[in-house]
Amino acid sequence: MTAAPRHFHYVKNDLCAEDVTLQAVAEKYGTPLYVYSAAQIRDNYRAYDVALSRTLGRGAYTICYACKANSNQAVLELLRKEGAGADIVSAGEMQRALAAGIAPDKIIFSGVGKTAEDIDAALTAGVVHINIEAEAELDLIAAIAKKRRVTAQVAVRVNPNVDAGTHAKITTGKKENKFGIDIEAVPALFKRGRKLAYVEMNGVAVHIGSQLTSLTPFKRAYQRLAKLVVTLRQQGATLTRVDLGGGIGIAYRGDETPPDLHLYALMVRDVFAGLGVHLCLEPGRSIVGNAGVLLSRVVQIKKGTAKSFAIIDAGMNDLLRPALYDAYHGLSPVRKSSGRRLTYDVVGPVCESSDIFLSAEKLSPLSVGDLVVLRDAGAYGAVMSSAYNARPPAGEVLVAGKKHARIRHPQTVQDLIDQDIVPAWI
Ligand code: LLP
Repeated sequence: MTAAPRHFHYVKNDLCAEDVTLQAVAEKYGTPLYVYSAAQIRDNYRAYDVALSRTLGRGAYTICYACKANSNQAVLELLRKEGAGADIVSAGEMQRALAAGIAPDKIIFSGVGKTAEDIDAALTAGVVHINIEAEAELDLIAAIAKKRRVTAQVAVRVNPNVDAGTHAKITTGKKENKFGIDIEAVPALFKRGRKLAYVEMNGVAVHIGSQLTSLTPFKRAYQRLAKLVVTLRQQGATLTRVDLGGGIGIAYRGDETPPDLHLYALMVRDVFAGLGVHLCLEPGRSIVGNAGVLLSRVVQIKKGTAKSFAIIDAGMNDLLRPALYDAYHGLSPVRKSSGRRLTYDVVGPVCESSDIFLSAEKLSPLSVGDLVVLRDAGAYGAVMSSAYNARPPAGEVLVAGKKHARIRHPQTVQDLIDQDIVPAWI
């Protein structure tokens, strides 16, 4: 299994992050607030490491955490200390990963639309490989590598045309998606790439989507990739690295059955056995998703004729996933209360009808001032927040045992105002 979320738990009636009550956290740091458990992040990372080392053996793989899921420097440093590398999709994420001390030889640069500046920065830093997602990127890399007199290590991100069976907005491995290069076109691209100076084409990569709850699409994509490795070798390519992407889902509702990591590792071993390639993995959500909550306070209870609304002080600007992907984040009270459960729509204060977290959810009675959390908000939460409605994004706090610390300052409205420039000629 991916590690069970055991570090957010009730002690009597109080919800705690590790050894700290969220009541105390809210009193000290205010709301809305992202709160992460360091132990949960470590457990999640180690669950991968244990499953992979037992099945593939140490040294056969690198776990390159997908920074986009949560790129707070404290999270990156914590994972670097566990041994993680990084999967990055922008020069900005590279700067973050390097600032957290992650060695360039453990950094993979994926992503569509890399600019010449991005590639230059990656080659200067010496990242382990760049995953190209378009033919033209190859020529751009070759030209910049020549100028810099370095050899670029290049992998091709393959679009295997496999349906990941996940939400359409987080599906990336079908022909109609913008990601990767059609698998049929890859052999010709390798032939061309191998003739280029300053470029070493030595890997293939795949990432078919996010929040996958079945092993089947992974297996289908990986089998296509393994077959491709054989084809490419037959035509003379030296292939040393295969990047398996991320995508393993987590249980948001509790009834999903994300792939068991040991079964995943066994499947990977079966598919790639005998090919003698180094494997890279790029998990994001499954490392940090269940390690974070969005702590919030009820600001109003509004009984309409059709519905009862619980309005909380976190909005879609803080956690966009429900509005964007119809994603479910369950709600737990910070202090358990008794009483017959009532049906609520839990909504934020933003002026958008899609600023709704839960619809017709049966919950213990809520009152103004109550603290609640939206669960499993550690991945694609804070990183996707905005200042819409001039609501400064929430701060972030990390808990480890009895310790807790702010890991991001909440912005203030004055910060937002200060970023704007009013030309003198207005
Ligand atoms: N590698 C690549 C190349 C990716 O594009 C992604 C995610 C990952 C790895 C990590 O995937 P994960 O293990 O986290 O599933 N904002 C969306 C998710 C977008 C994922 C984009 N790519 C959400 O909130 O569901």
